[in-house]
Amino acid sequence: MELKQVAVFASGRGSNFRHIVEKIRTDSVQARVALLITNNPDAGALKIARDYGIPARIFPPVDFPNSNSYNDSILEVLVAKRIEYIVLAGYMRLVGSQIVNKYENRIINIHPALLPAFGGKGMYGHHVHEAVFESGVKFSGATVHIVDTKYDNGPIVLQDVVSIADVKNADEIAEKVLDIEHRIFPEALRLLVEQRLRITGRRVEVLKEQGIAEN
Ligand code: GRF
Repeated sequence: MELKQVAVFASGRGSNFRHIVEKIRTDSVQARVALLITNNPDAGALKIARDYGIPARIFPPVDFPNSNSYNDSILEVLVAKRIEYIVLAGYMRLVGSQIVNKYENRIINIHPALLPAFGGKGMYGHHVHEAVFESGVKFSGATVHIVDTKYDNGPIVLQDVVSIADVKNADEIAEKVLDIEHRIFPEALRLLVEQRLRITGRRVEVLKEQGIAEN
């Protein structure tokens, strides 16, 4: 079977990016991370791309007059590289509608909380864990969702939960949640490229095999 071509978008250290590359290798997921795209020339993800021999393209926002031309330029590269799926692994910009529309239901994002709680504009990275800690909730977790044109808004693919009843600070929450991210994000990518997700409105059903429901 042809390997599905995947692009990863990352702005930061890239630990999710690395776990996805490793999962593809160790679990023979029928995909290939063909490209890393980042807005940040200092992203740790760039070193991970170098370590794995994955081509990377940097799009510094200052080089573009507006977000429309920014996303047009990225889309041009995605098409040229015949990318079929997109993974947002700590990507700090809103993906342009031209990209979302072209890759409808083929872009997934990882959010470090149980959406729809603690999501939306401004809720990213450590801010999320601080808000979770301050709220006093007893559980947190991570969410993988389909990307649409709003932050953290698309149908939910996978979630998992962890008790935070005994944590002392937001850092402890971040550590517990990151472990969940590293487990569910690669699994969600597998389901996506194997076309085992049936999306009906806001609900996502995981199929046992392509086109066959679990029960
Ligand atoms: C993760 O916590 C993810 O949930 C959020 O940004 C962080 C990225 O971490 N979107 P890394 O760059 O994958 O280590």
